[in-house]
Amino acid sequence: MTEPAATTAPRFRRLLVTGGAGFIGSCFVRDRLARRDGTTITVLDKLTYAGNPANLAPVEADPEQATRLRFVVGDIADAAVVAPLMTDIDAIVNFAAESHVDRSILDPEAFLRTDVMGVHVLLEAARAEKDRAARGERATAPRFLQVSTDEVYGSVDTGESHEEDPLDPRSPYSAAKAAGELFVHSYFVTYGLDTVVTRGSNTYGPYHHPEKLIPLFITNAIEDQQLPLYGDGLQRRDWLYVADHAGAIDHVLEHGVSGEIYNVPGNNERANRETVSDLLDLLGKPWSLVRLVDDRPGHDRRYAMDDSKLTGLGWANKMRFEDGLSATVDWYLENREWWRSIKSGEWDDYYRRQYGDRLAGSREAMTEAPEAAAKAKP
Ligand code: NAD
Ligand code: DAU
Repeated sequence: MTEPAATTAPRFRRLLVTGGAGFIGSCFVRDRLARRDGTTITVLDKLTYAGNPANLAPVEADPEQATRLRFVVGDIADAAVVAPLMTDIDAIVNFAAESHVDRSILDPEAFLRTDVMGVHVLLEAARAEKDRAARGERATAPRFLQVSTDEVYGSVDTGESHEEDPLDPRSPYSAAKAAGELFVHSYFVTYGLDTVVTRGSNTYGPYHHPEKLIPLFITNAIEDQQLPLYGDGLQRRDWLYVADHAGAIDHVLEHGVSGEIYNVPGNNERANRETVSDLLDLLGKPWSLVRLVDDRPGHDRRYAMDDSKLTGLGWANKMRFEDGLSATVDWYLENREWWRSIKSGEWDDYYRRQYGDRLAGSREAMTEAPEAAAKAKP
């Protein structure tokens, strides 16, 4: 990846980035530090199954960047860990979350703990810093950016979701994310905390944990293993390249209006079958690897968001979907050690639990894709 050119000094230079060892958080950290604009970052990450210090290896390999990164292993729901990390930062960017819908169906409580209780602990620590600022013990209160998701709108049959639309989360994951961001907004209204919220769409790219659709199917296909496609595979997702998602979050951090929410769509809406067909073509693997399996309970059929508020703030995504998918496939082909070490140990238990019965009762996916149906917009 080419290094972004150094830009003018950012408004927020000392950052607390929670979940910075995960997929999107680590991209944010890598890209921000590579700008060499004087930013210093403290990453707070619990290193759950989804957190991986190797995602920050490019930073550690660069002595100048490494001096501007501090890594703390800890839980955002632990007030004793969080409070001291807030005393000398300008902003907190909260990526930390349990983020996988399927896992939220297997174990909802972990989602309540991190995505709701953890957010509350972070908010309380930020509020304490605001109080310190009011007493003149620090110059300004920290800004709080909450990374949320398009899933809070629920399944959208037609049209696009706007920021003021009512929320209709339908999985334990999206319910927890909705609760988390509502707490954030309540701290803006009630305590005057400087908050901004982003709602991103389905993100893909390098360093994506191989239990999510695109990396799971790429890595399974590389090893000629079956690809478990849920239901009819005609669910629609709007794909956003990870560097664009991280860049949009950075842009909202710098320019977002306090108390506001910003959709971050990819504007690449596709049926899952189309996405799978494209990545099999890139890998030169046959459609016969695809198996239709029992659907995800409560599976949201479609997400789509309006982007006018974010574009009005001056942000535009850079990556075309075709180029992003191709770069992603190449990355997984070139970084087999990274994903093979994740797909070992506890992975087998998870995979059996999630897919064992499903694959045993799976059906042939028949044709490559009913193209007309897949491409037709609902
Ligand atoms: P991820 O699962 O890859 O990373 C989450 C990170 O948070 C991991 O490093 C994990 O160790 C850490 N973490 C989990 N619980 C923690 C806790 N209690 N304390 C501290 N750290 C903890 O997730 P991601 O895909 O990078 O998503 C990041 C954020 O973006 C999440 O808030 C998610 O809801 C949101 N989001 C993701 C997508 C997507 O498509 N991946 C889209 C929109 C929004
Ligand atoms: O929309 C944003 C959300 O995107 C984020 O908030 C979540 O953190 C992120 O995990 C993602 O959620 P999804 O549930 O959409 O992503 P996932 O990769 O799990 O699934 C994408 C689609 O592919 C979805 O329709 C379910 C389907 N799928 C997924 C898996 C893992 C399959 O058909 N088979 C699978 O094995």
